[in-house]
Amino acid sequence: MSTNLIILGPPGAGKGTQAVRIAEEMELKHLSTGDLLREEVAEGTELGSKAREFMNRGELVPDELILSMIAVHFDGQDSRGWILDGFPRSLNQARALSDILREKGIELDNVILLDISPETVISRITGRRVCSSCGAVYNISSMEGDRCTECGGELIIRDDDREETVRRRFEVYRKQTEPLIEYYSGEEGLMLKVDAGAGIDEITESILDGIKEA
Ligand code: AP5
Repeated sequence: MSTNLIILGPPGAGKGTQAVRIAEEMELKHLSTGDLLREEVAEGTELGSKAREFMNRGELVPDELILSMIAVHFDGQDSRGWILDGFPRSLNQARALSDILREKGIELDNVILLDISPETVISRITGRRVCSSCGAVYNISSMEGDRCTECGGELIIRDDDREETVRRRFEVYRKQTEPLIEYYSGEEGLMLKVDAGAGIDEITESILDGIKEA
């Protein structure tokens, strides 16, 4: 049996942190459009150079670029299931995903909504450090040393974590991504709202409990 999940929430809510843990625990494929885009940027591909200007301004990368990138990495048919992190992020993307799933007869099990106050996310984002080599995510409040504990890489601040860009990313979330909450609220039991202001372990536990109950 497979489990198919979306994790949704504002910038810095902890989507990546939780998606990695849930994917590991449940042996799911983890697909993060933010990570895929950063790889494209680092490799200097045509998509990466187009995406970079939108990302650095805190805007969404246009839907057609995202959907063509998703088509390369995602067909919905992983045997254990998947968790989508950062996708869909607009109503167009959500409708496109619904079409893909409907066409293939695949069911979405839960949309995990990380519920958190803007003040908490700002402090998380400004404290975030990422490994320049493997992309592992840390926070200055809990880091041990200044190198990546996974691969020894240098820990850096993400290009789009500057304060004015973070503010813009928030506005964009409110306008373009928040409407997805209503889009997915129609189906009973699909939306799993979790208090994302809690500790990392506690949140993982709530998500795993919620999924099991669904
Ligand atoms: P993306 O990388 O998806 O960025 P985001 O949604 O803004 O989310 P973040 O990565 O900032 O945060 P997160 O929720 O994953 O939090 P994290 O776990 O790191 O996208 C970047 C850009 O790419 C977008 O702005 C857009 O331009 C483009 N893009 C991507 N997908 C797109 C799409 N589908 N369509 C169009 N454009 C797209 O945690 C944050 C920090 O908090 C870390 O330091 C972490 O260690 C810490 N932390 C996490 N949980 C806790 C906790 N419980 N307690 C204390 N600290 C915590």
